[in-house]
Amino acid sequence: MNKAIIITGTPGTGKTTISQLLSTHGYEVHEVGKIVKEKHLYTLYDDEMECYVVDDDLLTPVLVELIENNSSPVPIILDGHVMMVPSEYIYHCIVLRCSIKTLRTRLEEREYKPSKIEENVEAEIMEVILTEMLESYGEENVSIVYTDKTEERSCNDVLNFIKGRKERKEEDSTC
Ligand SMILES: Nc1ncnc2c1ncn2[C@@H]1O[C@H](COP(=O)(O)OP(=O)(O)O)[C@@H](O)[C@H]1O
Ligand SMILES: [Mg+2]
Repeated sequence: MNKAIIITGTPGTGKTTISQLLSTHGYEVHEVGKIVKEKHLYTLYDDEMECYVVDDDLLTPVLVELIENNSSPVPIILDGHVMMVPSEYIYHCIVLRCSIKTLRTRLEEREYKPSKIEENVEAEIMEVILTEMLESYGEENVSIVYTDKTEERSCNDVLNFIKGRKERKEEDSTC
Protein backbone atom coordinates (compact mmCIF):
# COMPACT_ATOMS: atom_id res chain seq x y z
CA MET A 1 0.00 0.00 0.00
CA ASN A 2 1.40 3.37 -0.99
CA LYS A 3 0.47 5.10 2.25
CA ALA A 4 2.11 5.88 5.57
CA ILE A 5 1.01 6.14 9.18
CA ILE A 6 2.85 8.96 10.87
CA ILE A 7 3.74 8.50 14.52
CA THR A 8 4.76 11.91 15.74
CA GLY A 9 4.95 14.02 18.89
CA THR A 10 7.38 16.05 20.97
CA PRO A 11 10.66 14.21 21.73
CA GLY A 12 10.10 11.94 24.74
CA THR A 13 6.38 11.33 24.15
CA GLY A 14 7.15 7.75 23.06
CA LYS A 15 7.29 7.64 19.24
CA THR A 16 10.12 5.14 18.95
CA THR A 17 8.85 2.90 21.76
CA ILE A 18 5.36 2.72 20.26
CA SER A 19 6.69 2.30 16.71
CA GLN A 20 8.83 -0.63 17.82
CA LEU A 21 5.76 -2.23 19.40
CA LEU A 22 3.85 -1.65 16.16
CA SER A 23 6.59 -3.48 14.27
CA THR A 24 5.69 -6.60 16.31
CA HIS A 25 2.18 -6.27 14.83
CA GLY A 26 3.48 -6.57 11.27
CA TYR A 27 4.17 -2.95 10.40
CA GLU A 28 7.37 -1.89 8.65
CA VAL A 29 8.84 0.96 10.69
CA HIS A 30 11.21 3.73 9.59
CA GLU A 31 12.81 6.06 12.12
CA VAL A 32 12.98 9.38 10.30
CA GLY A 33 15.70 10.87 12.53
CA LYS A 34 18.00 7.97 11.63
CA ILE A 35 17.37 8.44 7.89
CA VAL A 36 18.12 12.17 8.22
CA LYS A 37 21.47 11.45 9.88
CA GLU A 38 22.49 8.52 7.66
CA LYS A 39 21.63 10.28 4.40
CA HIS A 40 22.75 13.76 5.57
CA LEU A 41 19.32 15.28 4.91
CA TYR A 42 19.95 18.35 7.10
CA THR A 43 21.01 21.92 6.56
CA LEU A 44 23.11 22.19 9.71
CA TYR A 45 23.65 20.97 13.24
CA ASP A 46 22.10 23.33 15.79
CA ASP A 47 24.66 23.47 18.62
CA GLU A 48 22.28 25.31 20.92
CA MET A 49 19.44 22.75 20.56
CA GLU A 50 21.89 19.88 20.02
CA CYS A 51 19.99 18.55 17.02
CA TYR A 52 20.04 18.47 13.23
CA VAL A 53 17.95 21.00 11.28
CA VAL A 54 16.11 18.92 8.70
CA ASP A 55 16.15 19.95 5.04
CA ASP A 56 12.58 19.18 3.95
CA ASP A 57 13.49 19.62 0.29
CA LEU A 58 15.81 16.62 0.69
CA LEU A 59 13.83 14.58 3.22
CA THR A 60 10.34 14.66 1.66
CA PRO A 61 11.33 12.94 -1.64
CA VAL A 62 13.18 10.22 0.31
CA LEU A 63 10.07 9.54 2.43
CA VAL A 64 7.80 9.60 -0.62
CA GLU A 65 10.05 7.06 -2.33
CA LEU A 66 9.88 4.78 0.72
CA ILE A 67 6.08 4.99 0.69
CA GLU A 68 5.84 4.42 -3.06
CA ASN A 69 8.12 1.38 -2.85
CA ASN A 70 6.03 -0.25 -0.12
CA SER A 71 4.60 -3.42 -1.63
CA SER A 72 3.01 -4.79 1.55
CA PRO A 73 -0.79 -4.58 2.02
CA VAL A 74 -0.41 -2.40 5.13
CA PRO A 75 0.90 1.18 5.34
CA ILE A 76 4.45 1.81 6.52
CA ILE A 77 5.09 3.58 9.82
CA LEU A 78 7.12 6.79 9.86
CA ASP A 79 8.43 7.59 13.35
CA GLY A 80 9.59 11.17 13.68
CA HIS A 81 8.86 14.67 14.91
CA VAL A 82 10.05 16.70 11.94
CA MET A 83 8.85 15.64 8.51
CA MET A 84 6.60 16.88 5.77
CA VAL A 85 4.79 14.17 3.82
CA PRO A 86 2.19 15.23 1.21
CA SER A 87 -1.35 14.48 2.44
CA GLU A 88 -2.17 12.11 -0.42
CA TYR A 89 0.36 9.65 1.08
CA ILE A 90 -1.13 9.74 4.57
CA TYR A 91 -3.19 6.81 5.83
CA HIS A 92 -3.42 8.27 9.31
CA CYS A 93 -1.42 10.48 11.66
CA ILE A 94 -1.03 9.71 15.36
CA VAL A 95 0.19 12.48 17.64
CA LEU A 96 1.58 11.12 20.90
CA ARG A 97 1.22 13.26 23.97
CA CYS A 98 1.96 12.93 27.69
CA SER A 99 1.69 15.08 30.78
CA ILE A 100 4.35 17.73 31.26
CA LYS A 101 5.50 15.98 34.45
CA THR A 102 6.03 12.73 32.55
CA LEU A 103 7.75 14.50 29.66
CA ARG A 104 10.12 16.37 31.94
CA THR A 105 11.07 13.16 33.78
CA ARG A 106 11.72 11.31 30.51
CA LEU A 107 13.87 14.11 29.09
CA GLU A 108 15.81 14.43 32.37
CA GLU A 109 16.48 10.68 32.26
CA ARG A 110 17.83 11.24 28.76
CA GLU A 111 20.20 13.79 30.24
CA TYR A 112 19.10 16.56 27.90
CA LYS A 113 20.46 19.93 29.04
CA PRO A 114 17.95 22.15 30.91
CA SER A 115 17.40 24.59 28.00
CA LYS A 116 16.61 21.71 25.64
CA ILE A 117 14.18 20.22 28.16
CA GLU A 118 12.42 23.60 28.52
CA GLU A 119 12.24 24.09 24.74
CA ASN A 120 10.57 20.70 24.31
CA VAL A 121 8.26 21.16 27.31
CA GLU A 122 7.18 24.50 25.87
CA ALA A 123 6.54 22.93 22.47
CA GLU A 124 4.32 20.32 24.13
CA ILE A 125 2.39 22.96 26.10
CA MET A 126 1.93 25.05 22.95
CA GLU A 127 0.80 21.94 21.02
CA VAL A 128 3.22 22.82 18.21
CA ILE A 129 3.23 19.41 16.53
CA LEU A 130 -0.50 18.76 17.02
CA THR A 131 -1.34 22.13 15.44
CA GLU A 132 0.99 21.47 12.52
CA MET A 133 -0.49 18.02 11.87
CA LEU A 134 -4.09 19.28 12.08
CA GLU A 135 -3.25 22.06 9.63
CA SER A 136 -1.51 19.66 7.24
CA TYR A 137 -3.85 16.66 7.34
CA GLY A 138 -7.16 17.77 8.86
CA GLU A 139 -9.01 16.63 11.98
CA GLU A 140 -10.37 13.42 10.41
CA ASN A 141 -6.84 12.17 9.70
CA VAL A 142 -5.24 12.97 13.05
CA SER A 143 -5.67 11.15 16.39
CA ILE A 144 -4.10 11.83 19.77
CA VAL A 145 -2.79 9.01 21.95
CA TYR A 146 -1.57 9.60 25.51
CA THR A 147 1.47 7.76 26.78
CA ASP A 148 1.18 8.28 30.53
CA LYS A 149 -0.20 4.72 30.67
CA THR A 150 1.63 1.46 29.97
CA GLU A 151 3.35 1.08 26.60
CA GLU A 152 1.02 -1.79 25.69
CA ARG A 153 -2.11 0.25 26.41
CA SER A 154 -0.83 3.19 24.36
CA CYS A 155 0.05 0.81 21.52
CA ASN A 156 -3.46 -0.67 21.68
CA ASP A 157 -4.94 2.83 21.47
CA VAL A 158 -2.87 3.45 18.34
CA LEU A 159 -3.95 0.11 16.83
CA ASN A 160 -7.60 0.95 17.54
CA PHE A 161 -7.29 4.29 15.75
CA ILE A 162 -5.65 2.57 12.78
CA LYS A 163 -8.41 -0.05 12.74
CA GLY A 164 -11.11 2.63 12.99
CA ARG A 165 -9.50 4.44 10.11
CA LYS A 166 -9.53 1.26 8.02
CA GLU A 167 -13.21 0.65 8.76
CA ARG A 168 -14.10 4.23 7.85
CA LYS A 169 -12.17 3.96 4.58
CA GLU A 170 -13.96 0.71 3.71
CA GLU A 171 -17.31 2.40 4.40
CA ASP A 172 -16.30 5.32 2.17
CA SER A 173 -15.54 3.01 -0.72
CA THR A 174 -18.94 1.27 -0.54
CA CYS A 175 -21.05 4.38 -0.95
N1 LIG B 1 2.92 4.38 27.30
C1 LIG B 1 4.14 4.64 26.86
N2 LIG B 1 4.35 4.82 25.55
C2 LIG B 1 5.59 5.11 25.07
N3 LIG B 1 6.70 5.25 25.85
C3 LIG B 1 6.55 5.06 27.18
C4 LIG B 1 5.27 4.75 27.73
N4 LIG B 1 5.41 4.64 29.07
C5 LIG B 1 6.72 4.85 29.33
N5 LIG B 1 7.41 5.11 28.21
C6 LIG B 1 8.86 5.39 28.16
O1 LIG B 1 9.04 6.71 27.66
C7 LIG B 1 10.22 6.79 26.87
C8 LIG B 1 9.85 7.29 25.48
O2 LIG B 1 11.02 7.42 24.71
P1 LIG B 1 11.02 7.31 23.12
O3 LIG B 1 10.13 6.20 22.70
O4 LIG B 1 12.44 7.27 22.69
O5 LIG B 1 10.36 8.72 22.73
P2 LIG B 1 10.51 9.55 21.38
O6 LIG B 1 10.86 8.59 20.29
O7 LIG B 1 9.17 10.20 21.20
O8 LIG B 1 11.57 10.58 21.63
C9 LIG B 1 10.84 5.40 26.85
O9 LIG B 1 11.81 5.32 27.86
C10 LIG B 1 9.64 4.49 27.22
O10 LIG B 1 10.04 3.31 27.86
MG1 LIG C 1 12.49 8.57 18.92
